[in-house]
Amino acid sequence: MPFRTNRTTLTQYLIEERRRYPSASGDFNALILDVAMACKQIAKAVAYGELAGLHGEHNEDAGGSINFQGEAQKKLDVLSNDIFIKTTEWGGHLLGMASEEMDEALDIPEGNPKGRYLIVFDPLDGSSNIDVNVSVGSIFSILRAPDDATAPIQEEVFLQPGSQQVAAGYALYGPSTMLILTVGNGVVGFTLDPALGEFMLTHPSITIPEDTQEFAINTSNSRFWEAPVKRYVDECLAGSTGPRGKDFNMRWIASMVAEAHRILMRGGVFMYPRDTKDPSKAGKLRLLYEANPVGMIIEQAGGRASTGSYPMLDVKPTELHQRIGLVFGSKNEVERIERYHNEPIEEKGEDMPLFAERSLFRD
Ligand code: AHG
Ligand code: MN
Ligand code: MN
Repeated sequence: MPFRTNRTTLTQYLIEERRRYPSASGDFNALILDVAMACKQIAKAVAYGELAGLHGEHNEDAGGSINFQGEAQKKLDVLSNDIFIKTTEWGGHLLGMASEEMDEALDIPEGNPKGRYLIVFDPLDGSSNIDVNVSVGSIFSILRAPDDATAPIQEEVFLQPGSQQVAAGYALYGPSTMLILTVGNGVVGFTLDPALGEFMLTHPSITIPEDTQEFAINTSNSRFWEAPVKRYVDECLAGSTGPRGKDFNMRWIASMVAEAHRILMRGGVFMYPRDTKDPSKAGKLRLLYEANPVGMIIEQAGGRASTGSYPMLDVKPTELHQRIGLVFGSKNEVERIERYHNEPIEEKGEDMPLFAERSLFRD
Protein backbone atom coordinates (compact mmCIF):
# COMPACT_ATOMS: atom_id res chain seq x y z
CA MET A 1 0.00 0.00 0.00
CA PRO A 2 1.49 3.39 -0.92
CA PHE A 3 2.29 5.28 2.28
CA ARG A 4 0.47 8.59 2.32
CA THR A 5 1.33 11.10 5.01
CA ASN A 6 -1.10 13.81 4.01
CA ARG A 7 -4.48 12.28 4.79
CA THR A 8 -6.92 14.39 6.79
CA THR A 9 -8.30 12.71 9.91
CA LEU A 10 -11.89 13.17 11.09
CA THR A 11 -10.59 15.28 14.01
CA GLN A 12 -8.63 17.54 11.68
CA TYR A 13 -11.62 17.88 9.35
CA LEU A 14 -13.89 18.90 12.24
CA ILE A 15 -11.37 21.41 13.63
CA GLU A 16 -10.89 22.98 10.21
CA GLU A 17 -14.66 23.20 9.69
CA ARG A 18 -15.06 24.80 13.12
CA ARG A 19 -12.53 27.52 12.29
CA ARG A 20 -15.13 28.88 9.91
CA TYR A 21 -17.41 29.53 12.92
CA PRO A 22 -15.25 31.34 15.50
CA SER A 23 -18.09 31.44 18.04
CA ALA A 24 -18.60 27.65 18.08
CA SER A 25 -17.97 26.12 21.49
CA GLY A 26 -16.44 22.86 20.34
CA ASP A 27 -19.31 20.83 21.86
CA PHE A 28 -20.53 19.77 18.45
CA ASN A 29 -17.12 18.46 17.36
CA ALA A 30 -16.71 16.59 20.61
CA LEU A 31 -20.12 14.97 20.13
CA ILE A 32 -19.27 13.85 16.59
CA LEU A 33 -16.02 12.35 17.86
CA ASP A 34 -17.95 10.44 20.53
CA VAL A 35 -20.32 9.14 17.85
CA ALA A 36 -17.32 8.12 15.72
CA MET A 37 -15.96 6.24 18.74
CA ALA A 38 -19.29 4.41 19.09
CA CYS A 39 -19.12 3.46 15.41
CA LYS A 40 -15.57 2.13 15.77
CA GLN A 41 -16.63 -0.04 18.69
CA ILE A 42 -19.66 -1.34 16.77
CA ALA A 43 -17.43 -2.01 13.72
CA LYS A 44 -15.22 -4.13 15.95
CA ALA A 45 -18.16 -6.06 17.42
CA VAL A 46 -19.65 -6.65 13.95
CA ALA A 47 -16.28 -7.82 12.60
CA TYR A 48 -15.68 -10.24 15.48
CA GLY A 49 -19.16 -11.64 14.91
CA GLU A 50 -19.53 -15.23 15.97
CA LEU A 51 -15.91 -15.31 17.20
CA ALA A 52 -17.23 -13.26 20.10
CA GLY A 53 -20.54 -15.17 20.16
CA LEU A 54 -22.33 -12.11 18.80
CA HIS A 55 -24.49 -13.63 16.07
CA GLY A 56 -28.10 -14.63 16.65
CA GLU A 57 -31.04 -13.35 18.61
CA HIS A 58 -30.95 -11.34 21.82
CA ASN A 59 -32.15 -13.51 24.75
CA GLU A 60 -31.80 -16.63 22.61
CA ASP A 61 -32.28 -18.95 25.58
CA ALA A 62 -35.66 -17.39 26.33
CA GLY A 63 -36.80 -17.88 22.72
CA GLY A 64 -35.60 -14.50 21.45
CA SER A 65 -36.84 -11.01 22.20
CA ILE A 66 -39.14 -8.72 20.28
CA ASN A 67 -38.78 -4.96 20.66
CA PHE A 68 -41.81 -2.72 21.29
CA GLN A 69 -42.06 -2.14 17.52
CA GLY A 70 -42.73 -5.85 17.06
CA GLU A 71 -39.34 -6.63 15.51
CA ALA A 72 -36.94 -9.38 16.56
CA GLN A 73 -33.87 -8.00 18.32
CA LYS A 74 -30.46 -9.38 17.47
CA LYS A 75 -27.68 -9.55 20.04
CA LEU A 76 -25.83 -6.94 18.00
CA ASP A 77 -28.86 -4.59 17.95
CA VAL A 78 -28.84 -4.49 21.74
CA LEU A 79 -25.06 -4.26 22.06
CA SER A 80 -24.84 -1.47 19.46
CA ASN A 81 -27.54 0.46 21.30
CA ASP A 82 -25.62 0.12 24.60
CA ILE A 83 -22.41 1.26 22.90
CA PHE A 84 -24.12 4.38 21.50
CA ILE A 85 -25.49 5.27 24.94
CA LYS A 86 -22.24 4.69 26.84
CA THR A 87 -20.04 6.63 24.41
CA THR A 88 -22.28 9.70 24.12
CA GLU A 89 -23.91 10.18 27.54
CA TRP A 90 -20.80 11.19 29.51
CA GLY A 91 -19.48 14.13 27.47
CA GLY A 92 -21.85 16.91 28.51
CA HIS A 93 -22.96 17.71 24.96
CA LEU A 94 -26.41 16.08 25.00
CA LEU A 95 -29.70 16.81 26.69
CA GLY A 96 -31.20 13.49 25.65
CA MET A 97 -31.27 10.70 23.12
CA ALA A 98 -33.70 8.40 21.36
CA SER A 99 -33.16 5.15 19.48
CA GLU A 100 -34.94 2.54 17.41
CA GLU A 101 -34.21 0.06 20.19
CA MET A 102 -35.69 2.13 23.06
CA ASP A 103 -39.39 2.64 23.53
CA GLU A 104 -38.95 6.05 25.17
CA ALA A 105 -36.47 8.89 24.96
CA LEU A 106 -33.52 8.57 27.33
CA ASP A 107 -32.26 11.19 29.77
CA ILE A 108 -28.61 11.84 30.46
CA PRO A 109 -27.87 10.14 33.82
CA GLU A 110 -28.25 12.33 36.89
CA GLY A 111 -24.98 13.91 37.90
CA ASN A 112 -23.66 14.01 34.33
CA PRO A 113 -23.30 17.43 32.71
CA LYS A 114 -26.00 18.22 30.13
CA GLY A 115 -25.67 19.96 26.79
CA ARG A 116 -27.89 21.52 24.13
CA TYR A 117 -27.90 18.77 21.53
CA LEU A 118 -30.15 15.77 20.99
CA ILE A 119 -29.17 12.60 19.17
CA VAL A 120 -31.51 10.10 17.54
CA PHE A 121 -30.10 6.86 16.12
CA ASP A 122 -30.69 3.50 14.52
CA PRO A 123 -27.80 1.68 16.21
CA LEU A 124 -27.72 -1.14 13.67
CA ASP A 125 -29.60 -0.85 10.40
CA GLY A 126 -30.12 -3.96 8.30
CA SER A 127 -29.67 -6.26 11.26
CA SER A 128 -31.49 -9.11 9.49
CA ASN A 129 -28.28 -9.26 7.43
CA ILE A 130 -25.90 -9.80 10.35
CA ASP A 131 -25.92 -13.57 10.45
CA VAL A 132 -25.39 -13.78 6.67
CA ASN A 133 -22.42 -11.40 6.87
CA VAL A 134 -23.82 -8.71 4.58
CA SER A 135 -23.15 -5.00 5.20
CA VAL A 136 -24.97 -3.28 8.07
CA GLY A 137 -24.58 0.24 9.47
CA SER A 138 -25.46 2.82 12.15
CA ILE A 139 -27.47 5.94 11.32
CA PHE A 140 -27.61 9.13 13.43
CA SER A 141 -29.32 12.51 13.40
CA ILE A 142 -28.29 15.48 15.54
CA LEU A 143 -30.79 18.14 16.54
CA ARG A 144 -30.62 21.22 18.71
CA ALA A 145 -32.72 20.99 21.88
CA PRO A 146 -35.37 23.72 22.01
CA ASP A 147 -34.29 26.59 24.32
CA ASP A 148 -36.93 25.78 26.93
CA ALA A 149 -36.24 22.02 26.99
CA THR A 150 -35.16 20.60 30.34
CA ALA A 151 -34.64 17.19 31.93
CA PRO A 152 -36.55 14.91 32.28
CA ILE A 153 -36.67 14.92 28.53
CA GLN A 154 -40.04 14.97 26.76
CA GLU A 155 -40.66 13.09 23.51
CA GLU A 156 -41.93 16.34 21.91
CA VAL A 157 -38.46 17.92 21.83
CA PHE A 158 -37.40 15.33 19.23
CA LEU A 159 -40.37 15.98 16.95
CA GLN A 160 -38.57 18.43 14.67
CA PRO A 161 -38.73 18.35 10.86
CA GLY A 162 -35.65 16.94 9.13
CA SER A 163 -34.83 20.40 7.77
CA GLN A 164 -33.81 21.37 11.33
CA GLN A 165 -31.13 18.69 11.67
CA VAL A 166 -27.74 20.16 12.58
CA ALA A 167 -25.90 17.15 11.23
CA ALA A 168 -26.54 13.62 10.07
CA GLY A 169 -24.41 10.65 9.23
CA TYR A 170 -24.00 6.93 9.09
CA ALA A 171 -21.28 4.36 9.53
CA LEU A 172 -21.23 1.45 7.12
CA TYR A 173 -19.72 -1.83 8.28
CA GLY A 174 -18.83 -3.36 4.93
CA PRO A 175 -15.58 -4.64 3.37
CA SER A 176 -14.18 -1.45 4.87
CA THR A 177 -15.76 0.63 7.62
CA MET A 178 -16.78 4.10 6.47
CA LEU A 179 -18.26 7.17 8.13
CA ILE A 180 -20.38 9.47 5.98
CA LEU A 181 -21.16 12.88 7.44
CA THR A 182 -22.94 16.09 6.64
CA VAL A 183 -22.91 19.19 8.80
CA GLY A 184 -25.05 21.03 6.26
CA ASN A 185 -22.16 21.90 3.97
CA GLY A 186 -22.02 19.01 1.49
CA VAL A 187 -21.25 15.37 2.23
CA VAL A 188 -17.89 13.88 3.11
CA GLY A 189 -16.76 10.29 3.59
CA PHE A 190 -14.06 8.81 5.81
CA THR A 191 -12.60 5.30 5.71
CA LEU A 192 -11.45 3.66 8.94
CA ASP A 193 -7.74 2.92 8.95
CA PRO A 194 -7.88 -0.17 11.16
CA ALA A 195 -4.21 0.01 12.14
CA LEU A 196 -4.49 3.60 13.39
CA GLY A 197 -8.12 3.32 14.51
CA GLU A 198 -8.74 6.66 12.79
CA PHE A 199 -11.31 7.73 10.23
CA MET A 200 -9.41 9.24 7.26
CA LEU A 201 -10.99 11.58 4.74
CA THR A 202 -11.17 9.57 1.51
CA HIS A 203 -14.28 11.08 -0.13
CA PRO A 204 -14.00 14.88 0.25
CA SER A 205 -17.07 15.78 -1.80
CA ILE A 206 -19.79 13.23 -2.54
CA THR A 207 -22.38 14.07 -5.16
CA ILE A 208 -25.17 11.99 -6.68
CA PRO A 209 -25.71 11.96 -10.45
CA GLU A 210 -29.10 13.46 -11.34
CA ASP A 211 -30.06 10.58 -13.63
CA THR A 212 -29.81 6.86 -13.11
CA GLN A 213 -30.69 3.48 -14.60
CA GLU A 214 -30.73 1.58 -11.30
CA PHE A 215 -33.60 1.21 -8.84
CA ALA A 216 -34.05 -0.60 -5.51
CA ILE A 217 -37.36 -1.84 -4.11
CA ASN A 218 -38.58 -5.02 -2.43
CA THR A 219 -40.74 -6.39 -5.26
CA SER A 220 -42.24 -9.07 -2.99
CA ASN A 221 -44.53 -6.25 -1.81
CA SER A 222 -45.67 -5.37 -5.33
CA ARG A 223 -49.25 -6.49 -4.83
CA PHE A 224 -49.56 -3.97 -2.00
CA TRP A 225 -48.09 -1.00 -3.89
CA GLU A 226 -50.07 2.10 -4.71
CA ALA A 227 -50.68 2.86 -8.41
CA PRO A 228 -47.93 5.49 -8.90
CA VAL A 229 -45.26 3.10 -7.56
CA LYS A 230 -46.54 0.27 -9.76
CA ARG A 231 -46.45 2.59 -12.74
CA TYR A 232 -42.89 3.73 -12.03
CA VAL A 233 -41.53 0.20 -11.56
CA ASP A 234 -43.43 -1.15 -14.57
CA GLU A 235 -41.86 1.53 -16.71
CA CYS A 236 -38.38 0.68 -15.40
CA LEU A 237 -38.96 -3.02 -16.08
CA ALA A 238 -40.24 -2.32 -19.59
CA GLY A 239 -36.77 -0.87 -20.23
CA SER A 240 -35.77 0.15 -23.73
CA THR A 241 -39.08 -1.15 -25.12
CA GLY A 242 -41.18 0.99 -22.72
CA PRO A 243 -41.87 4.70 -22.24
CA ARG A 244 -38.50 5.33 -20.57
CA GLY A 245 -36.63 4.11 -23.65
CA LYS A 246 -33.72 2.73 -21.60
CA ASP A 247 -32.97 -0.42 -19.63
CA PHE A 248 -32.82 -0.38 -15.81
CA ASN A 249 -30.88 -2.54 -13.39
CA MET A 250 -32.27 -3.56 -9.97
CA ARG A 251 -30.66 -4.08 -6.53
CA TRP A 252 -32.06 -4.94 -3.08
CA ILE A 253 -29.63 -5.41 -0.18
CA ALA A 254 -32.21 -5.06 2.63
CA SER A 255 -29.83 -2.75 4.53
CA MET A 256 -31.11 0.74 3.76
CA VAL A 257 -27.81 2.21 4.87
CA ALA A 258 -25.93 0.14 2.29
CA GLU A 259 -28.41 1.12 -0.44
CA ALA A 260 -27.95 4.79 0.51
CA HIS A 261 -24.21 4.33 0.21
CA ARG A 262 -24.46 2.74 -3.23
CA ILE A 263 -26.63 5.64 -4.37
CA LEU A 264 -24.13 8.18 -2.97
CA MET A 265 -21.33 6.42 -4.84
CA ARG A 266 -23.00 5.91 -8.24
CA GLY A 267 -26.58 7.15 -8.26
CA GLY A 268 -29.82 5.21 -8.22
CA VAL A 269 -33.20 5.38 -6.60
CA PHE A 270 -34.41 3.65 -3.42
CA MET A 271 -38.06 3.11 -2.56
CA TYR A 272 -39.71 1.74 0.55
CA PRO A 273 -43.06 3.32 -0.22
CA ARG A 274 -46.18 3.41 1.86
CA ASP A 275 -48.28 0.42 0.79
CA THR A 276 -51.43 -1.43 1.77
CA LYS A 277 -49.72 -4.45 3.38
CA ASP A 278 -50.50 -3.36 6.93
CA PRO A 279 -52.93 -0.44 7.02
CA SER A 280 -51.87 0.38 10.59
CA LYS A 281 -48.37 1.31 9.32
CA ALA A 282 -47.68 4.34 7.16
CA GLY A 283 -44.57 2.67 5.69
CA LYS A 284 -41.83 0.41 7.07
CA LEU A 285 -38.97 2.78 7.72
CA ARG A 286 -38.86 5.26 10.57
CA LEU A 287 -38.89 9.02 10.08
CA LEU A 288 -36.62 10.27 12.84
CA TYR A 289 -33.67 7.89 12.69
CA GLU A 290 -33.83 6.45 9.15
CA ALA A 291 -35.65 8.74 6.69
CA ASN A 292 -34.54 12.13 8.05
CA PRO A 293 -30.79 11.55 8.48
CA VAL A 294 -30.49 9.68 5.18
CA GLY A 295 -32.69 12.36 3.61
CA MET A 296 -30.40 15.16 4.78
CA ILE A 297 -27.30 13.35 3.50
CA ILE A 298 -28.90 12.61 0.12
CA GLU A 299 -30.08 16.20 -0.34
CA GLN A 300 -26.72 17.60 0.73
CA ALA A 301 -25.17 15.43 -2.01
CA GLY A 302 -27.50 16.94 -4.63
CA GLY A 303 -30.07 14.13 -4.60
CA ARG A 304 -33.67 14.23 -3.40
CA ALA A 305 -35.50 12.58 -0.49
CA SER A 306 -39.26 12.31 -0.46
CA THR A 307 -42.27 10.64 1.08
CA GLY A 308 -43.14 9.76 -2.52
CA SER A 309 -45.32 12.87 -2.78
CA TYR A 310 -43.42 15.69 -1.07
CA PRO A 311 -40.02 16.49 0.48
CA MET A 312 -39.17 14.29 3.44
CA LEU A 313 -37.36 17.05 5.31
CA ASP A 314 -40.57 19.14 5.47
CA VAL A 315 -42.53 16.49 7.39
CA LYS A 316 -43.47 17.58 10.91
CA PRO A 317 -43.10 14.43 13.04
CA THR A 318 -45.89 13.43 15.38
CA GLU A 319 -44.31 10.42 17.12
CA LEU A 320 -40.84 9.27 18.08
CA HIS A 321 -41.13 5.97 16.21
CA GLN A 322 -43.31 7.24 13.37
CA ARG A 323 -43.10 5.23 10.14
CA ILE A 324 -43.22 6.78 6.70
CA GLY A 325 -42.94 5.96 3.00
CA LEU A 326 -39.40 6.77 1.80
CA VAL A 327 -38.08 7.44 -1.70
CA PHE A 328 -34.62 8.88 -2.26
CA GLY A 329 -31.76 9.10 -4.73
CA SER A 330 -31.02 10.66 -8.11
CA LYS A 331 -32.99 13.89 -8.33
CA ASN A 332 -34.71 13.45 -11.68
CA GLU A 333 -36.02 9.97 -10.80
CA VAL A 334 -37.36 11.04 -7.40
CA GLU A 335 -39.05 14.04 -9.01
CA ARG A 336 -40.63 11.72 -11.58
CA ILE A 337 -41.99 9.48 -8.80
CA GLU A 338 -43.40 12.56 -7.02
CA ARG A 339 -45.02 13.65 -10.29
CA TYR A 340 -46.68 10.25 -10.65
CA HIS A 341 -48.02 10.58 -7.09
CA ASN A 342 -49.27 14.10 -7.63
CA GLU A 343 -50.96 13.57 -10.98
CA PRO A 344 -54.73 13.40 -10.56
CA ILE A 345 -55.73 9.75 -10.29
CA GLU A 346 -58.61 8.63 -12.45
CA GLU A 347 -60.63 5.61 -11.46
CA LYS A 348 -58.69 2.41 -12.12
CA GLY A 349 -60.01 1.10 -15.40
CA GLU A 350 -59.64 1.23 -19.12
CA ASP A 351 -58.37 4.80 -19.21
CA MET A 352 -55.39 3.82 -17.05
CA PRO A 353 -53.63 1.27 -19.24
CA LEU A 354 -50.37 1.41 -17.29
CA PHE A 355 -52.14 0.60 -14.03
CA ALA A 356 -54.29 -2.13 -15.47
CA GLU A 357 -53.83 -3.91 -18.79
CA ARG A 358 -50.17 -3.17 -19.32
CA SER A 359 -49.16 -3.49 -15.70
CA LEU A 360 -46.45 -6.09 -15.29
CA PHE A 361 -47.65 -6.49 -11.72
CA ARG A 362 -51.37 -6.60 -12.41
CA ASP A 363 -53.28 -8.96 -10.18
P1 AHG B 1 -33.58 -2.40 10.85
O1 AHG B 1 -32.63 -3.55 10.67
O2 AHG B 1 -32.94 -1.22 11.51
O3 AHG B 1 -34.87 -2.79 11.51
O4 AHG B 1 -33.98 -1.83 9.40
C1 AHG B 1 -34.18 -2.72 8.33
C2 AHG B 1 -34.85 -1.97 7.22
C3 AHG B 1 -33.94 -1.38 6.16
O5 AHG B 1 -32.60 -1.34 6.44
C4 AHG B 1 -34.18 -2.22 4.94
O6 AHG B 1 -34.15 -1.44 3.79
C5 AHG B 1 -35.54 -2.82 5.17
O7 AHG B 1 -35.72 -2.85 6.56
C6 AHG B 1 -35.65 -4.18 4.58
O8 AHG B 1 -36.96 -4.57 4.62
P2 AHG B 1 -37.48 -5.94 3.94
O9 AHG B 1 -37.08 -7.02 4.87
O10 AHG B 1 -38.97 -5.72 3.90
O11 AHG B 1 -36.86 -6.04 2.58
MN1 MN C 1 -33.06 0.43 10.36
MN1 MN D 1 -31.94 -1.12 13.48
